[in-house]
Amino acid sequence: MHISRLDVLQVRNIANIQIDCHPSANLIYGANGSGKTSFLEAIYLLGRGRSFKHRDLRVVVNHQADELVVSARIERSKSGTSHQLGIKRTAQGKFEARLDGKSIQSAVQLVEELPLQLIDAHSFTLLEGGALQRRQFVDWGVFHVEHNYTNLWRRFQKALKQRNQLLRHGRMDEDLLSAWTAELVPLCEQVTEFRRQYIEQLAGIVQEVSGAFDGLGAVELEYYQGWAEGQELGAVLKAGQKRDMALGTTNYGAHKADVRIKVDGIAAAEVLSRGQTKLLVYALKLAQATHYRNRVGQSCVFLLDDLPAELDYDHRAQVIACLNGLDCQYFMTGVDKKDFGLLVEGTAHQMFHMEHGAASEG
Ligand SMILES: Nc1ncnc2c1ncn2[C@@H]1O[C@H](COP(=O)(O)OP(=O)(O)O)[C@@H](O)[C@H]1O
Ligand SMILES: [Mg+2]
Repeated sequence: MHISRLDVLQVRNIANIQIDCHPSANLIYGANGSGKTSFLEAIYLLGRGRSFKHRDLRVVVNHQADELVVSARIERSKSGTSHQLGIKRTAQGKFEARLDGKSIQSAVQLVEELPLQLIDAHSFTLLEGGALQRRQFVDWGVFHVEHNYTNLWRRFQKALKQRNQLLRHGRMDEDLLSAWTAELVPLCEQVTEFRRQYIEQLAGIVQEVSGAFDGLGAVELEYYQGWAEGQELGAVLKAGQKRDMALGTTNYGAHKADVRIKVDGIAAAEVLSRGQTKLLVYALKLAQATHYRNRVGQSCVFLLDDLPAELDYDHRAQVIACLNGLDCQYFMTGVDKKDFGLLVEGTAHQMFHMEHGAASEG
C-alpha cells in the first residue's frame, strides 16, 4: 500500500502542504527547524491518531490555528482500490477520523488502514529502554497479522485492570480476587501463545535482514512470557498473592513479558555500540515489515527521520537496498540534499525541499 496524495494543514509549523507522493522513495531535505520531523509526525498522526513526540496533541496543532487536519489518498495494492483517510484535531481536544467520508470510531481502525513503521533518534530505546517498548513492538506485529488479537488483548487488559483495582482495594474479597485471577490466566496464556509464535516466525527473518548489514553478529530473539518458564500461571499467582496484595498490583503475567535480544550470545544492550544498536533497530523493524508483507500481502509505510544523521554511508545504502527490496513506500528526511544524492542514484524517487513549513518538489 502507499499514500498517493497527502494534505497537511496546521501541524506544528506546517501551515498547508499538499503533495503527490512517490509510491516508493520520498526524500525530504531542509534546514534544521524547517518542518521535516513535523511532516513525518503528520503522517504518523494519521496512522496512529497520536503523536510520536508528545502525548498531548494540543501542542501539535499550529500555535496560530484552532485545528489540524491530515488527509491522504491511500492506494491498496492488494485490492487495487483507493481510499481517503483523514483526521482532524482541535486545539480544545476534539478528535475525528474518517475513512471515505464515514466516521471511524477507534484508533485501531486507523492503525489497520495505514500500517506505519517509524524510526527516529529515539528508536534505540527499543533495545536500551524498558520492556514496554519491546512488548509494543511484538504487539504491533501480532496485531497486524492476527485478526482476533485486538479483541483478546483488550479483554486481557480489562481483566488485569480489574484484578489490580481489587488488589489496591483496602478490604480484600478473596472470592472476587479468585474470579478475576481465573479470568486473567487463560487470557495471559492466549496472548503469550500469539506472541511466542510471532517471535518464532520473526527470529528467522531478523537473522536474514541483519545478515545483510555489515558488522552485526548473529541476532537471536527469545520471548520471556512474564513468569517462570514451565510454571503454571494460576499457581504462580496463587503463590504470589500476598506480595500482589502488599504491592497492590499483579506481579506476574503477559504484561510483564519481554523480548530478550542477543547478539552472538550476549545481551544486545550490553555489547553493541550506539551505532550498532541503531542498526539493529533498523534490522528489527525491517524484519517486522517483511513478516507483515509475507503474511498480509502488502507493505507498510516507513517514516525515517534524519537517516543520514543516524547511520554511516554504507549502512544507509544497505537500509535503502532493504527498503527497495521490500517494495514499500518510505518518507525519509535529512538536512542536505547531497546526503541522499548518491544513495538514490538509479532508484526512482521524489525529492521535496522543506522551507519554513512549506514543501516544494525538487
Ligand atoms: N505547535 C506549533 N506551532 C508552530 N510551530 C511549531 C509548533 N510546534 C513546533 N513548532 C516549530 O516547528 C519547527 C519545525 O520543527 P521540526 O519539524 O522539528 O524541524 P526539523 O525536523 O526540520 O528540524 C520548529 O522551529 C518548532 O519550534
Ligand atoms: Mg527533525
